[in-house]
Amino acid sequence: MQPDQSSVDMGGYRVSENASLRARNTLRVDASARWLVELDDASRLPDALAHPAFGDLPLQVLGEGSNVLFTRDFDGVVLVMATRGVKVEEDGDATRIAVAAGERWDDFVRWSLAQGYAGLENLILIPGTVGAAPIQNIGAYGVEVAEFIESVEAWDRQQRRALSLPRSECAFGYRDSRFKHEPDRYIVTAVRFTLPRQRALRLEYAGIGEQLQRMGVQEPSAYHVAEAVVHLRTRKLPDPAVIGNAGSFFKNPHVDAQAAARLLREHPALPHWENPDRSVKLSAAWLIESCGFKGLREGDAGISNRHALVLVNHGQASGAALWSLAQRVRQGVQARFGVMLDTEPQVIGASG
Ligand code: EPU
Repeated sequence: MQPDQSSVDMGGYRVSENASLRARNTLRVDASARWLVELDDASRLPDALAHPAFGDLPLQVLGEGSNVLFTRDFDGVVLVMATRGVKVEEDGDATRIAVAAGERWDDFVRWSLAQGYAGLENLILIPGTVGAAPIQNIGAYGVEVAEFIESVEAWDRQQRRALSLPRSECAFGYRDSRFKHEPDRYIVTAVRFTLPRQRALRLEYAGIGEQLQRMGVQEPSAYHVAEAVVHLRTRKLPDPAVIGNAGSFFKNPHVDAQAAARLLREHPALPHWENPDRSVKLSAAWLIESCGFKGLREGDAGISNRHALVLVNHGQASGAALWSLAQRVRQGVQARFGVMLDTEPQVIGASG
């Protein structure tokens, strides 16, 4: 069926039927949604969810679609959070800022640096929206967003009420949170951050120090760190505006100390990091590259030749083709190293 992009304005949200999702996911998969709701007024969320046409259809929330893979058309309601607003609620040594879910993460990071707040510099240039940031606890270059989150404001679909979850109740972990574990329960509507004016810079992650040196910077500020991260990311990660991708498609696996020791005896070059609980995080990129999958291409589905964690769409790859290539990579790594990789983005519509 040809997607019908005409939408009906309901005041605070717009509804369209049989809508194309191609421009709404950064893997550029040409799937469609039975219903698409674009919400720009959070107070209208309960009404939008109660729309009579939606019945009991499944619901999928999207921000910029930078962390999802639609493996087929979605027979349900896609809710795009398009709410905007950044509000400084309390100023002082540490500032509390409430940010609407639909704001772009990278815009917020740049705004915070321009206002003189510190902390988010390592997280510059991560695609996606503010509302998506707590769901997978976005992280890069030694920093995770959870550290700066005071609370997550959400609509609880079970209890049908708005609530505020303090950080301690969000179960944040490596690319993980309560929101991932209860996927059908919460719709994030805003995030409250606490940002300091002063903070020790995080420079220890591999590559940042060297990059600052290359830039000729002796005494780095938060700005310099942001610039260094922009250089590193631009060099290593393909730009979704140029080639469809969802950032890291695979998570770095965690294995127990015994399994790590065995793997490292056989593969001493495997990059790894010991966790406080003695489990060991392994570089999934290295495992994938060692299997010869970096730069692999099957039709338009591929693994980036710049970074082995990144699944790319060279043009017209379907969601099913991308998912099938990802499975091939996972099975290859499992066969060679005995480690099953988890996917980082939400994979929608795949069985098993
Ligand atoms: N490596 C390879 N082959 C590659 C790429 C990397 O062998 O193609 C090796 C590197 O040599 C290095 C190690 O893997 O020793 C780690 O590489 P990198 O610094 O690129 O980090 P990563 O662990 O692969 C993680 C995040 C990225 C984030 C970077 C930098 C995950 C799943 N990914 O990647 O996040 O930008 O660290 O902090 O944790 C994302 O989540 O979308 C994302 C891009």
